[in-house]
Parts: sequence; C-alpha cells; structure tokens
Amino acid sequence: MNIKEYILNHTEKEDPVLTELTRETNLKVLKPRMLTGYYQGIFIQLISKMIQPKNILEIGTYTGYSAICWAKGLKKDGIIDTIEIKDELEPIINKYFIKSGIEKKVKVHFGNALKIIPEINKTFDIVFIDADKTNYLNYYNLVFNKVKKGAYIIVDNVLWNGKVLNNNDELDESTRGIKIFNDFVQSDERVENILLNIRDGLMILRKK
Ligand SMILES: C[S@@+](CC[C@H](N)C(=O)[O-])C[C@H]1O[C@@H](n2cnc3c(N)ncnc32)[C@H](O)[C@@H]1O
Repeated sequence: MNIKEYILNHTEKEDPVLTELTRETNLKVLKPRMLTGYYQGIFIQLISKMIQPKNILEIGTYTGYSAICWAKGLKKDGIIDTIEIKDELEPIINKYFIKSGIEKKVKVHFGNALKIIPEINKTFDIVFIDADKTNYLNYYNLVFNKVKKGAYIIVDNVLWNGKVLNNNDELDESTRGIKIFNDFVQSDERVENILLNIRDGLMILRKK
C-alpha cells in the first residue's frame, strides 16, 4: 500500500450519487478532468459543514459535483447560487441535483459569470471560483464586496499542474491568469490566505 492509498483508506467514502455523476460525466461530457472529484470533494464538503453557510456563490458549475459537495453544509434555509456558461449541461446538472436532493437549495444561472455576478444582489459566506482561469482576478474583484467580513473566497486550480512555476515569457493565457491572481491576493492586505496542496491547488482566502 502506498501513502496515497493509506490516506484514501482513512477518508470518508464518496457519496454514491457523486460516483454515478463522475461516471456519467466521464462517459458523456468533454473534459471530465474538470470535475472536482472525490478527495477534494470530501474536503470542501467538510469545510462547508464547518462554516455552515447561508449563502454560497459558485462560479463554474460544470456537471455539478462541487455544488453538491458545498450544498451538504448549507444551513437549513441556505441557498447556493451557481453560474455556468454552457447551458447544454443543464440536463445532467438537474438530474444530479435532484438525485442528491439539493434541487430546492440551488439556483443555477446559465450565462457568462462576468455579466451575471453583478446582477446577483446578495452577500455570501463562501464564494468558490472555478471557471475560466484568465478571469480569476476579475471574478475576485467582482465578488469581493459581496463577501461578508470574516467570510471565505475559495479558489480552485491555483497550481495549474505546476505550470505556475514556468517563466513569465513561456506562459499560456490560463497560467498567466492564475499567476496574476495568486500574486495579487498574496499582497492583498484585506485577506488572510493559505495555498493548500490539494489536487491542483486550492487557495483559501478569508476576508478580514
Ligand atoms: C473546472 S469546471 C468547474 C468544475 C466544477 N466546479 C466541478 O467541481 O465539477 C469550469 C466550468 O466553468 C465554466 N465557465 C467557463 N467560463 C465561464 C464563464 N465566463 N462564466 C460561467 N461559467 C464559465 C465552464 O463551462 C466549465 O463548466
């Protein structure tokens, strides 16, 4: 047994609905690697249960895996707003939101998050940024005033498969977007942060 197997043997098992969602995503949807997946999913579900948020905003629904994990920690009357540009994903998203029993706690907004975020008049306990990497800093700036004091902005893929270590003259647009974001928040005194080495890198920021 290697250490990775040992870790997984001592971690909560995956919700069977999420196992089924992963399988269907792999069979039917392009780029199934985008899905949050088992280990990180357990992590965000526990974070959500610790915070017990009333309002969550997710940017980048894809097939709904992370939204289902976040929703598990919502307060009884809590809501997760989640934004996805590809409306062709609606049938699979709806199917698994119903299967996991969160359909009444989730509002899916189809369209471009850059346009939709300013139209949502709410404040959030957690914002999860997981859409196109070129806009990470734009999303951060757009949501910042909608995040409560003491609340969290959590950002996925901030290591981008290690490409953040590449030289600035050899960066593709996504890597550049992530590096600009990581450097900006590191010197942003309005937040405290930790970059966790989970899956592809997860940045947790707390608004002071
Ligand atoms: C990495 S996937 C999200 C994965 C999802 N959070 C999960 O755990 O399964 C990124 C998603 O963001 C969506 N996206 C990309 N650009 C977007 C935009 N400007 N507005 C809204 N969604 C966008 C993509 O279509 C894709 O489904």
